[in-house]
Amino acid sequence: MRTPQDYCDGAGPLNAIQAAAPMTRCEQLPPPWRILGAALIALVISGCGESEPARSATPIAPSVELDTGRPVRGVRPADLVRFQALPAYSEPDWVTRNFVAKGRLPPVQERLPREPLVFGSAAMPDGQGVYGDVLRQITGGRPEGWNYSAGQSQGWGGVDIGTMECLTRTGPLFLVDREALEPLPNLAKAWTWSRDGLQLTMDLVEGAKWSDGHPFTSDDVMFYWLDNVLDPNVSPLNGASDDSFGPGTKLEALGRYKIRWTFKRPFPRDYLYQMAYGKFCPGPAHVLRPQHPRYNRANSYQDYKQAFPASRMNFPTMGAWVVTEYRPDDILILRRNPYFWKVDASGRQLPYLDEMQYRLLGWNDRDVQVIAGGSDLANLESPASFVEAMRGAAKPGAGYRVAFGPRTSAYSVLMNLSGNGWGEPDTRGQALRNLNRQQAFRQAITMAMDRKSLGQTQVGGPFIKPYAGGLLASSPFYDAQATRMFDHNPSAARALLSSIGLVDRDGDGYVNYPPDVLKGENVTAILTASPDTITERTLAEGVLLFARDAGLRVVLRFASGPQRDALVASGQFDWVLARHDTTELTTVVQGADALAPMGPYTHKFHRAGPNGDLDLLPYESEMVRLTKAFIATDNKAKRRQLMSRYQLVSTEQVNAVGLIQFPGGLLINKRIANVPPGTPTIMFNWEEYALMRERLFVPKARQSRHELRPGTLPGCFACRPSAGRGKP
Ligand code: GLA
Repeated sequence: MRTPQDYCDGAGPLNAIQAAAPMTRCEQLPPPWRILGAALIALVISGCGESEPARSATPIAPSVELDTGRPVRGVRPADLVRFQALPAYSEPDWVTRNFVAKGRLPPVQERLPREPLVFGSAAMPDGQGVYGDVLRQITGGRPEGWNYSAGQSQGWGGVDIGTMECLTRTGPLFLVDREALEPLPNLAKAWTWSRDGLQLTMDLVEGAKWSDGHPFTSDDVMFYWLDNVLDPNVSPLNGASDDSFGPGTKLEALGRYKIRWTFKRPFPRDYLYQMAYGKFCPGPAHVLRPQHPRYNRANSYQDYKQAFPASRMNFPTMGAWVVTEYRPDDILILRRNPYFWKVDASGRQLPYLDEMQYRLLGWNDRDVQVIAGGSDLANLESPASFVEAMRGAAKPGAGYRVAFGPRTSAYSVLMNLSGNGWGEPDTRGQALRNLNRQQAFRQAITMAMDRKSLGQTQVGGPFIKPYAGGLLASSPFYDAQATRMFDHNPSAARALLSSIGLVDRDGDGYVNYPPDVLKGENVTAILTASPDTITERTLAEGVLLFARDAGLRVVLRFASGPQRDALVASGQFDWVLARHDTTELTTVVQGADALAPMGPYTHKFHRAGPNGDLDLLPYESEMVRLTKAFIATDNKAKRRQLMSRYQLVSTEQVNAVGLIQFPGGLLINKRIANVPPGTPTIMFNWEEYALMRERLFVPKARQSRHELRPGTLPGCFACRPSAGRGKP
């Protein structure tokens, strides 16, 4: 078999990022968006006390979309994707001309599966696309290496999402009618349940290939499952473990393209959601297995994890693009995967965009760069940038638009509820955890928070709403009546602290422990937070100030993203400022098992200690029962009832100290087509997964000159292990 190494054609020296292409005038949006957009901008600008009148409302409006995030009525999974053989297939001309015609790549129909995944009309809001151009993005993360099966991050921001494919797909479900909600098929093209619901047989896409041309089969699935998910020495990125699919669950290969799950409880349909990004996205067994300690006795688990460093290019993917170039702190370049197994309804192999770039900057640069014309797509998730982003979009001739989605972004303070030694706290930490475990203490903290002010410090206007904790207001299961919001009341908070013996005995403004605990020293809570974004820095400072008003001393411990995550995962925290980047509190169905501490090692802020004991509080046990009952039933009324009760328990008990909730937005360069209105920054998953970037395209007349490696395809991975693009 020919290796794709020779495909790298005509790669010139890497130029500086090219100047922005001429801006195009924006499309006209449908009238409701225009009106809402104009009204909102006026409101926000006036809410910010700006003197500039909202005179620019008319030109602004088409550049700003607001959306409630309601799914499109009547859209069913099959309208988005299906598997089907089509009469003919095609690809970009330059691929046929320079690679197929020269015998360097098999013809496209031989590279595609027997029945490729076909994007239906509901997946193409602007119609089928044309080939060419590039999607320029920014990430604030950095690639650790390519072995995501063993836990390495590729730098977030959607880098991994562009290269990984998973058994099912849930991101685009925000488009699907709720009545028809079910994960989309993906690597698993179809599935059937046994009569008793204990077995699930899945057919894998047949004849699909990794980006290096190697067949994708059940061997990849089994290697991921047995040697990564179930191997206690390996923790895949996004944390899949046997708990993710139920203790005692078995998976077996029935053939090259057939697998069978055997579960301990009937019809666990929630696992179909877990099989999407990021819990069941197999890596390429043909390159991973030789490095795994079970098959390579010379290697340690650390060797396995680090066997594919970030400098090693062309790591095989099933995704639409392959990372072909990496310059540390500069850029990642991804080129189209010539073996990608998805097509449009006319048989054109996807993706439409030949290149994807990730410039390696800071998280706060994401908005700025789209506004400045240096990037094409970003999640607008920092409310402090909302006004500037909208103002920029309002300028005549602005090159980008802003599309706000539903209110699915939120921040909370999570308190470590383990009293059992998880994370090995010192005596101060243990004393604080004992307080975290008391309802009065948690209520006092929540009453100390002035959520309105916390929101106003981020952005004025109507964007931010107080968040009580529990399910978000955007969730279909949200029940306002069952939501207990504790209003800001510092003196009531002090009274509550005093009711559990915490009073200021030395007159320094902070409450002390009773004399027999820690010699009566000040109660001090350490709040772990990431300094990586302005939102988190300001929220952390706000929490400190409001806690002080109620007499509680908070010390900030800033630890940047990956370090903060490691501290939390190992239980080394009192409180952590958390962005909601999981989805259970919005969708409930996606990742429902995260709603409560369901297993000893699954929950974010309550896990078992060294002796394996999970010391659940009575209200947490109730939340576990409610969640289990929710997962076990399909009855809609029952599910609603269970979630109302969950909401009451979790907000009444202050399971988490909710702070603010707000809508995220997308910033999109106007030349990019096929972005559906209302795409959430996060709902069933991150925007990058929901957007189905493989169907984005740029109309010919608007194509830019931003591509850095035109005419090239990914090179060989295996032929020169130590380096990138060299010839074999
Ligand atoms: C980070 C970003 C999100 C999103 C995800 C994708 O968390 O903050 O906006 O891009 O990466 O993994």
